[in-house]
Amino acid sequence: MKSLYMVSGSLAETQSLGEKIGRNLCLKIVIGLSGELGSGKTSFVQGLAKGLDIPDKYYVTSPTYSLIHEYPGRIPLFHIDLYRIRLRDEIEGTGLYEILDRFGIFAIEWPDFVINDLNVDSLSIHFEIIDDDKRKITITAHGERAAELIKKL
Ligand SMILES: Nc1ncnc2c1ncn2[C@@H]1O[C@H](COP(=O)(O)OP(=O)(O)OP(=O)(O)O)[C@@H](O)[C@H]1O
Ligand SMILES: [Mg+2]
Repeated sequence: MKSLYMVSGSLAETQSLGEKIGRNLCLKIVIGLSGELGSGKTSFVQGLAKGLDIPDKYYVTSPTYSLIHEYPGRIPLFHIDLYRIRLRDEIEGTGLYEILDRFGIFAIEWPDFVINDLNVDSLSIHFEIIDDDKRKITITAHGERAAELIKKL
């Protein structure tokens, strides 16, 4: 397990971090995004989409109600938000497990119910609000390929 942290000073900086990671992705990976409301999880995914060459006409917004948004890019991006899931059992029947078997990049907000069940490399990214514009972002890599990825940051 390899870990690093950085401080983002603005929304744009958090988006750039996402973009940089997105540019380097070529294999299936899960990115678990944790941290309080408004800490920058969705903003990060907006950058990730850019790095995966998803056309600008797809504006990335929180899938809080729809659970899953899929975007076509160099690699498909699945943006998943489990905020409204209260019990693990509620995930059955949503189609999420079937989607997780596909090839793609899986960016998951509030990932606690699924993150340990997945058999692929992952990055855990935790966002902490320092003040209005500053966020402490801690990235932990699980698996060799994920570790390679954060060496490039
Ligand atoms: N350094 C920063 N990085 C990211 N967002 C920032 C930063 N500074 C200020 N912000 C603001 O914080 C908010 C982050 O919102 P965002 O939707 O990305 O959070 P979230 O973690 O996805 O929240 P939720 O849990 O509600 O889905 C935006 O309004 C953004 O403009
Ligand atoms: Mg969000």
